[in-house]
Amino acid sequence: MLYEKTSTSPVNIAVIKYWGKRDTELILPTNSSISVTLSQDQLQSKTTIRASPKFTKTRLWLNNVEELNLSNNARLQNCLRATKKLRKEYEDQLSDEIGRDNVIPLSTYNLHICSENNFPTAAGLASSASGFACLVYTLSQLYELPISTTELSKIARQGSGSACRSLFGGFVNWQMGTKQDGSDSQALQIASSDHWPELEALICVVSDAKKSTSSTEGMQNTVKTSPLLQYRINNVVPERMKFMTDAILRKDFNKFAELTMKDSNQFHACCLDTFPPIFYLNDISRAIIRVITEYNNSTGKPGEYKAAYTFDAGPNAVIYALKQNIPDIINLISKYFPPSQNNLNYFSDPYNLFSNESEKIGKLPLPNNFNEDFIHIFPNDSIKQILHTRVGKGPRLKSGSNDSLLNSDGFPKNLKS
Ligand code: DP6
Repeated sequence: MLYEKTSTSPVNIAVIKYWGKRDTELILPTNSSISVTLSQDQLQSKTTIRASPKFTKTRLWLNNVEELNLSNNARLQNCLRATKKLRKEYEDQLSDEIGRDNVIPLSTYNLHICSENNFPTAAGLASSASGFACLVYTLSQLYELPISTTELSKIARQGSGSACRSLFGGFVNWQMGTKQDGSDSQALQIASSDHWPELEALICVVSDAKKSTSSTEGMQNTVKTSPLLQYRINNVVPERMKFMTDAILRKDFNKFAELTMKDSNQFHACCLDTFPPIFYLNDISRAIIRVITEYNNSTGKPGEYKAAYTFDAGPNAVIYALKQNIPDIINLISKYFPPSQNNLNYFSDPYNLFSNESEKIGKLPLPNNFNEDFIHIFPNDSIKQILHTRVGKGPRLKSGSNDSLLNSDGFPKNLKS
């Protein structure tokens, strides 16, 4: 009998940002946040976990190259410990019902874990949220834990805060909670992935030679030094949480876009207010903001928006927009941030927007009333890649015979030495 499960999990991009912890051990945030889960067609983590009495220790391989040292990885240990504890409780309960001899003591077995992303880590896209969500979800399936997704989110949260939101598809609220033990700091779904099918996303992968400050380190410096963050926590986020939830439920793009852009701006303002300051946006990021702002101005109606930008702890932009405006935005981005001739990854057009005319991207007419002289054209490959994606579903269990990442001996199938 093989005790093994494989599953995949999505990436999520916050529209009300999480930035700051009130407890760094339990990963309890200083404010609530809201995110959109993106389709796994473009971005996903995949994890296989096997439990066996033959394994001499618990081991984890990442992206088929690296074996992680688990002993100094407190966050991973916390997730493993918490799920094992629940499995042990479940085994005890089952023992009472069907007798101990009939229960597989999985909680006592070591694990072999293999995890990979279908997107390059070098692209600078956050992988910890999808990675930890996938780890915790796969464990819950392996251990057959009789708990809700919201309960499970409290464990994923201890791997990486934003991971708790990747356990749900669609639109997700991470309630900060107020209890010291973190038992009310959890994710809940606001609306499922098919609630607002017109909403789509473009991820602009911006070249970034320098490695920036990690979220974990950056946010605690902000907590320690930024008075603006305290203002945000007390006076801004609580109201925005309500308005954003309402905008999502009513599918009000104008309100959604306004709040998304303002919240991204304020998060980066808090980074600037940190002492010493943290800069995640670069010249390309700021130019993307200008293009989107100019595009929104072209409607001629204040308060009416056709696109919303948001940035996490790096220079990459995520642009949310309604389906009908996506071709315009891709055209604009590729006009101002063109690819070099040998950049074949620039835009793969997964939803066939441009059919046979892909060579025309960046050369199509600009939207009406768009002021094309407000900004210069950037050097080739300032944006390396544009990914077009949609709102997507939460983690999925894979049961195909080729889905496992482990070979028959329980070691990574594709390990590169
Ligand atoms: C800017 O979840 O990566 O993406 O909890 O320390 O692992 P840790 O941080 P992480 O922070 C994400 C910050 C953000 C905003 C967001 O996703 O809400």
